[in-house]
Amino acid sequence: MSALGRLPRALSALGRTSSQHLSRSITTTPVAHRRVPHERVAIVTGAARGIGRAIALRLAQDGYHITASDLPALQPQLDTLVSEINNTNNDASTPVPVRAHALPADVTSPEQVAALVRGSTDTLGPLDTMVANAGIAQVKPLLDLTPEDFRRMLDVNVAGVHHCFQAAAKQIIAQSGGQSGTETESGGDSPIRGRLIAAASIVAFKPFALLGHYSASKWAVRGLSQVYAMELAKHRITVNAYAPGIVDTAMWELIDQGLGEKATAESEGRRQVAKGEMIKKYSDELIALGRTSVSEDVAKLVSFLASPDADYVTGQTMVVDGGIIFT
Ligand SMILES: NC(=O)c1ccc[n+]([C@@H]2O[C@H](COP(=O)([O-])OP(=O)(O)OC[C@H]3O[C@@H](n4cnc5c(N)ncnc54)[C@H](O)[C@@H]3O)[C@@H](O)[C@H]2O)c1
Repeated sequence: MSALGRLPRALSALGRTSSQHLSRSITTTPVAHRRVPHERVAIVTGAARGIGRAIALRLAQDGYHITASDLPALQPQLDTLVSEINNTNNDASTPVPVRAHALPADVTSPEQVAALVRGSTDTLGPLDTMVANAGIAQVKPLLDLTPEDFRRMLDVNVAGVHHCFQAAAKQIIAQSGGQSGTETESGGDSPIRGRLIAAASIVAFKPFALLGHYSASKWAVRGLSQVYAMELAKHRITVNAYAPGIVDTAMWELIDQGLGEKATAESEGRRQVAKGEMIKKYSDELIALGRTSVSEDVAKLVSFLASPDADYVTGQTMVVDGGIIFT
């Protein structure tokens, strides 16, 4: 069924009639939902910077319309990203102009994430792919963690992924009239209707000391993605995660600083460990390919997971780390 054909069911499943929606569309966003076959929509959380920003740019390059989301405080960065996508993917030669818009949401709030999915669908049409990328890190020994440190880590990194996956899956299922793929005539051969993709990490395979609760959260993302894959396969939704290694972003600056402070405190004579020293040490000693990752390395893997080439891949957490962890 074409994207346009899926629309009326999607709208009624969302509790609105098509005519109500269309009259609103005509007065506010006349071209909303006028999708041609193969147009695709992705939501990317944590898109204001780092890996999420690179993923949004890469998926736009792949032809996805993009809903870029992050915390409300990062709206200016989201606006810059959206302008970049709208300006670079829409010249006269582009057959279907890519559209992007910014919609802030805190992923720890199920209500805000539900509004994000609704807002994306209202603006760009049926949802195809959710990239639950938003995450936080903290460098602290387990014995020093406060209950709030632990709760916050799981809230953002695990519950955040769950909220994104749950809201996106409900939307994608509603778009197909609530049918499960195996109930259709073509059974298990029916096309993939949606893709859920989460940010895990190499610490989901081998934890790092001083990143205990972060490691536990990413290990949980790996498990959660596997169960989502099991439960959503009948709806023709694939669920996977990406596991970056050491990526040169604001997050690794924070980790580098935290590990540096610990190393300084533990070194003989309290030798001051310089900024960047820990990331260099890890890169030199751990990474087979001998360089730290850049966000675009990760975006390339997400591009694959979000593409039809990954139709037969589900329940996997794929490592992209230049050769630190060998699975
Ligand atoms: N940088 C690395 O080396 C590395 C390695 C493995 C995994 N990862 C994972 O990749 C993802 C992106 O990491 P990054 O390096 O780009 O980090 P980053 O800190 O540069 O970006 C993370 C983004 O998530 C957003 N965010 C944080 N809490 C949020 C919330 N509650 N709601 C919405 N957005 C929120 C931040 O505002 C930020 O823009 C994270 O999940 C991270 O754990 C990163």
